[in-house]
Order: sequence, then C-alpha cells, then structure tokens
Amino acid sequence: MVTLENIFSHWITEKYLQRSGIYHAITVAETAFSLARERDLNEEIAAKAALLHDIGHYEWYTDGKWNYDEYRKHDIHAIKGAERAHKLLIRLGEDRETAKEVSLCVLLHTDSYLPFALGSQRSPLQNAVWEADTLNEEEQGRHHYRNMERKEAVRRLQKLDEQIFPVENPHAGSV
Ligand SMILES: [Fe+2]
Ligand SMILES: [Fe+2]
Repeated sequence: MVTLENIFSHWITEKYLQRSGIYHAITVAETAFSLARERDLNEEIAAKAALLHDIGHYEWYTDGKWNYDEYRKHDIHAIKGAERAHKLLIRLGEDRETAKEVSLCVLLHTDSYLPFALGSQRSPLQNAVWEADTLNEEEQGRHHYRNMERKEAVRRLQKLDEQIFPVENPHAGSV
C-alpha cells in the first residue's frame, strides 16, 4: 500500500512539488477526495492524482519574477507530470493499474497544451481531478504562491490516508 504521506515524503515529490506549491497540491487533493466520495469514484486514485497533478511544472522566472503569461504559452507540465508521477509511483511500489490511472488523470487535468478541448471526453474520475484543480485556481496563478508548512501538509495528508485506508478493526468478526 502506497499512502499519500509516502508519496509526499519522497525526494522526487519534495523536489518538484515545491514549484507549484504544497498548498495547492494539498487543497486539490482534499477537494478531489471529497468529490470522489460524493460521486462514488475511486477516492485513492482521485487524491493521489490531485496531489501530483502539478508535479510536472518547471520554473519560469523572468528577471526574478514569475512570468505567468509567457509560461502558459510554452507549457507542457501535464505531459511532464504524467510521466513523473508514474515513475515516482512505480518506484514506491504502486500497483501498475493505479499508477496508470493516476498518470492519465495528471495528463488530462488541463487541456491548455492541446490543440483541442477535452470537454466531456474525460472519465468521471479524470473530471473530478480537473474540477478540483479548477475550484482551487486563482487569478494570475496566485494559488501557486500560498504558503503551507510541511508539518501541516503531512497532518492533512494523514487525515486523508486514514479515510482512504481505514485500519481494519482487529476484533471484527472474532467471538
Ligand atoms: Fe496544472
Ligand atoms: Fe493545478
């Protein structure tokens, strides 16, 4: 079992998630989890994909300032992220089907890099991740700049892990 905390604590996540911000990753993971629960979708895949959805970002500074418009023109972070997320999950020992589903959700969480709109072509799960991201977006990419302490991030992920992987009652079924 690969938990959200396992994913978050890996050095690859540490390195690449900083760029788009921990705050954004955690809040989108929480929203995607809630949407998946409401809609009876796979909560684990939704939360993992949402946590990793922006892991493909690279840095885009001009004169020490983030140039959002320039970045958007050349951006392929969903493609890079899908590959990065898949590699990371496989390294952590993730089930291959889960790793592929997560990777596809990351790939399709935006269509800004595609020559066509995805619209209703996303699966319900892919749609939940896209929606969670959209709900947490702010103008000029401000959602990437909000701060969150690492300790707080881990605490919130542990809370999600407890709901996704409930510890079975050791006394259940015993007489
Ligand atoms: Fe994104
Ligand atoms: Fe995002």
